[in-house]
Amino acid sequence: MAYIVVATKNAHKVDEFRALIGDQNVELKSLLDYPDFPEIEEDGKSFKENASIKALAACKYCDVPAFADDSGLEVEALDGAPGIYSARYAPTGPERIEKLLKALDGKENRRARFVCVIAIAVNGEVIDTFEGEVKGRIADAPRGEGGFGYDPVFIPDGYDCTFAELPAEEKNKISHRARAFAKAMEFVEDQMSVLDNDFL
Ligand code: IMP
Repeated sequence: MAYIVVATKNAHKVDEFRALIGDQNVELKSLLDYPDFPEIEEDGKSFKENASIKALAACKYCDVPAFADDSGLEVEALDGAPGIYSARYAPTGPERIEKLLKALDGKENRRARFVCVIAIAVNGEVIDTFEGEVKGRIADAPRGEGGFGYDPVFIPDGYDCTFAELPAEEKNKISHRARAFAKAMEFVEDQMSVLDNDFL
């Protein structure tokens, strides 16, 4: 069976990608399967640069096709923060949410979007990148137990509940990651014949 590596050690993301791939004839591995993989410095200036850095590093290290996502939350009233610094906005998940809610205290505009860029690397080269977004607003307080990261405070447009209150299958239909992934899959299916390996 062909396999592809997703350049992340985040078990939640691996689960989301595994669900998105579904029962296609491909095995998804992640950096959790490569415990000696060195820490990657995400020093890019954009989601696209960071996704490319991670996909390339995994492709070279594991010597198989790899993809990576870089994602984050952009809040309008905070000029796009935390953006590419979403994972580093504060030391722990609850502290990140607390800091975000404090920063929005008293602000009327709570519009936000999750963004995800997926980069695909094959044969030591990034061949393309794909962006997905989901728009919504920041809740007044955290709600729900599911998902990860900022999910308890993100209410996607068209819903009254947060991402953390939605069943995983529902989030996977509309999320920024699902949308970027769908574009990446379309590309892979189109390009299958020119990729010189058994990628998908
Ligand atoms: P990355 O692993 O460098 O892409 O960091 C992304 C960070 O953005 C995560 O650590 C989360 O804080 C946040 N994030 C990205 N996607 C999601 C999501 O689907 N739900 C909640 N938070 C997310």
